[in-house]
Amino acid sequence: MPTFPTNFVWGAATSGPQTEGNFQKPHQNVFDYWFATEPMAFDSGVGPDVASDFYHDYASDLALMAQAGIHGLRTSIQWTRLIDDFETASLNPVGVAYYNHVIDAMLAQGIEPYMNLHHFDLPVELYQKYGGWESKHVVELFVKFAEQCFKLFGDRVKNWYTFNEPKVVVDGQYLYGWHYPQVIDGPKAVQVAYNMNLASAKTIAAFRQCCPQDDHKIGIILNLTPAYAASDDPADVAAAEFAELWSNNLFLDPAVLGHFPAKLVETLDRDGVLWEATPDELALIQANTVDCLGVNYYHPFRVQRPDISPQSLQPWLPDIYFKEYDMPGRIMNVDRGWEIYPEALTDIAKNIQENYHNIPWFVSENGMGVANEERFLDEQGVVQDDYRIDFMRHHLQALAKGIAAGSNCQGYFVWTAIDCWSWNHAYHNRYGLIRDELHTQTKTLKKSAAWFNQLSQTNQFD
Ligand code: NOJ
Repeated sequence: MPTFPTNFVWGAATSGPQTEGNFQKPHQNVFDYWFATEPMAFDSGVGPDVASDFYHDYASDLALMAQAGIHGLRTSIQWTRLIDDFETASLNPVGVAYYNHVIDAMLAQGIEPYMNLHHFDLPVELYQKYGGWESKHVVELFVKFAEQCFKLFGDRVKNWYTFNEPKVVVDGQYLYGWHYPQVIDGPKAVQVAYNMNLASAKTIAAFRQCCPQDDHKIGIILNLTPAYAASDDPADVAAAEFAELWSNNLFLDPAVLGHFPAKLVETLDRDGVLWEATPDELALIQANTVDCLGVNYYHPFRVQRPDISPQSLQPWLPDIYFKEYDMPGRIMNVDRGWEIYPEALTDIAKNIQENYHNIPWFVSENGMGVANEERFLDEQGVVQDDYRIDFMRHHLQALAKGIAAGSNCQGYFVWTAIDCWSWNHAYHNRYGLIRDELHTQTKTLKKSAAWFNQLSQTNQFD
């Protein structure tokens, strides 16, 4: 029976743009704008305008979360809600009051806030004026926003994160066109990756000034997708090595070790696409590493040699080095199209322990998205989501192995507490421990909520 350390935090993760709805928000982020201009880019034409209405329901939502045994909530402050003028970072008083209420309500429920500053939600006008994360001016504006957050909420919020899944911003917004602004440009994406690393380090520097207290910590939340080669063939192994560098080490190494992986820098330089960086910036990245790490884990990355030659793919894309491999027999969550492979969590734990000086970390997201969950409602109106319980159980078993081997993992945050809006997929897949009946915004605990509550009370499961 796996058990977890005392003080292990059982929590849930979510984000501002996926839950709040756009009520009284003075600016649009890139998703708000995309929805306003192209609603059918979203599943069933459902956008972020109402979401799960956390804006109005936060007090009762948090009370339900407490009933599900959630002791920590990782969410985010929306830049587009808190700030009035982006250049000066002047405040929107309504936004300030709102986040004050939310934080106070969390603490009143015994839920520790874990606050993230960016969850894919760049203000659209910063894209329109400056190209968004392509611009180092936007890096400076982000730091000003972050400083406001630290000053306003640092008295009550001790755990901070600069970015959630910056690699998804690089891939989705600047490389593969999944997300607005749908820029598809390898060299720009490389610069965006650098600029976000720089923004993270600069935000950490600002945090150390604003929140010097010992119990205040700052980290970054990365989606780690361990790359496994399709075979022992050196070409597949080389493909997996590059995939690991590009997908994981690109953010992990600067965040924890203070520098980019030499092999990645060499390759990008040889290909003529290396980012523009100054010695001062690199020194700043070196000096401002994270205190802790959040790891979002959903699926591994199966990789094989690419079947395109570098010359055939112009302009540059990282795909000249690797290709996804559809491993026969792998277990899939067909609703989401992601492989289910809990064992990777043991590998992540080992990697952090051995190569990232066993830095304190936590699972900042892990969960199972399932379509049409009304299929599983019982007569009492409770979703019988045994598949979600099994998913968590298997991942926690894999995590417990890593912890038993000495990994410094301090918590597990399920994605998510209450069914929430999920970007292009809108509400297609539900992830919550709590169901949201969208038409009425009625929220009901699922079977997994009772299981989670038991787990968080006992620190163990069978
Ligand atoms: C990771 C992201 O952080 C979150 O926003 C998203 O909804 C979940 N994965 C599920 O896809």
